[in-house]
Amino acid sequence: MEPVLNTSSTFNPEVIQAIQERAELGRYMIRGFGAFRNVPRLDDLVFLTASLTRLPLEGYREKCSTKTVLGTRHAKRPMELEIPITIAGMSFGALSRNAKVALGRAATWLGTSTTTGDGGMLPDEREASSKLVYQCLPSRYGFNPKDLKKADAIEIVVGQGAKPGGGGLLLGQKVNQVVAGMRTLPEGVDQRSPSRHPDWIGPDDLRIKIEELREATDWEIPIYVKIGATRVKDDVKLAIKSGADVIVLDGMEGGTAATQSIFQEHSGIPTLPALVQAVEALKESGMYGEVQLVISGGIRSGPDVAKALALGADAVSIGTASLIAMGCNKPVYVESYHKLGTEPYHCHHCHTGLCPVGITTQDEDLMARLPVEEAATHVANYLQAMVMEAQSLARSCGKSDVHNLEREDLVALTLEASAMSKLPLAGTDFVMGQ
Ligand SMILES: Cc1cc2nc3c(=O)[nH]c(=O)nc-3n(C[C@H](O)[C@H](O)[C@H](O)COP(=O)(O)O)c2cc1C
Ligand code: SF4
Repeated sequence: MEPVLNTSSTFNPEVIQAIQERAELGRYMIRGFGAFRNVPRLDDLVFLTASLTRLPLEGYREKCSTKTVLGTRHAKRPMELEIPITIAGMSFGALSRNAKVALGRAATWLGTSTTTGDGGMLPDEREASSKLVYQCLPSRYGFNPKDLKKADAIEIVVGQGAKPGGGGLLLGQKVNQVVAGMRTLPEGVDQRSPSRHPDWIGPDDLRIKIEELREATDWEIPIYVKIGATRVKDDVKLAIKSGADVIVLDGMEGGTAATQSIFQEHSGIPTLPALVQAVEALKESGMYGEVQLVISGGIRSGPDVAKALALGADAVSIGTASLIAMGCNKPVYVESYHKLGTEPYHCHHCHTGLCPVGITTQDEDLMARLPVEEAATHVANYLQAMVMEAQSLARSCGKSDVHNLEREDLVALTLEASAMSKLPLAGTDFVMGQ
């Protein structure tokens, strides 16, 4: 007899598997990557490029500037970048030394910045990166005045899009002697870092913290505040009031090396509405243009970059995509993916420390699979391609600077995207919800 394969939508095979896994383990699931669920995203917007009403620029003859300056509010030495794409904070510990150095080199070649992470400043990373943002996280792992002096900007991390309100996590198998030494913690032991800064309990304390850091760096370098996207408008306004020079906003698609999957799937709001709300908050505070906005979370292509700029961001930041450019999920060393119980294109196992391609591991043999020069070249090529794509779109909208892209250049393809972006639905004057 043919089996009858009725499927409950409440208790579908995935849910059944998840319940049974938890029943065996007795704890929550941990994984890398960002949210798996489908959310309205920048893909749901399209450009109204030039025709009769606007003149496009010639790609081969007419320039389209990509220069980007961050941190003009207070810093004597703002962050001057050649392109509007930066490399997001990813810790040494989560990433291998080779991966950190490759990102630094690629960013330097393209004239942009890279960022430390929850684990301090790796000397090789400092050397490889001409512009390095130094993170100050709740854990304070590796945060010290000596490295502060070497930084080109400081990023106070309040939260991340993948786990807003949650703390950091580095499983013991990734905590080797060097990683443990930089964090002054024991080797081989799971590190769960706090979800809030121990020395401040509200925005007034954040203002004091920012002032301290400014004094310590002689008002030379900008201070960024990074937040995971939840109550975006209020958070952005509070960060501005506390004195931030730059807001870094990370949407729910944002990647991580390890967190509880419940955070990735059930907390925060997507990058698209987060960006729109942040720009509104900057405008309502009278600080649009004075405090810069960097957006991250699921940025993958030149069109994503161009759309983010058109919606009002000053720059984007990329994490996962930069790892993919250097070989994450590439169909090589397939037997190593199988050992993790996965396949190329489906891997999200950064938390295990057994990265098949040497990116999120501290194992010397696995790391040797990631030659620095080759990885750096791939990231640089990818950044360059994204910049060219964004420039092409800007030129086709008649703009000689990617920062001249504007909301008026975009329309939405879906009702959800229209409601979240407050842009008209393509071919209509209808803006959902207004
Ligand atoms: C492997 C990995 C490690 C990360 N480590 C940190 C970290 O130490 N500090 C931090 O603020 N964010 C960390 N993040 C988050 C990124 O800074 C950034 O917010 C996120 O990757 C952006 O989303 P995307 O990955 O979709 O580009 C990490 C992300 C990844 C993928
Ligand atoms: S290939 Fe490596 S970096 Fe990519 S998801 Fe798997 S473990 Fe993480």
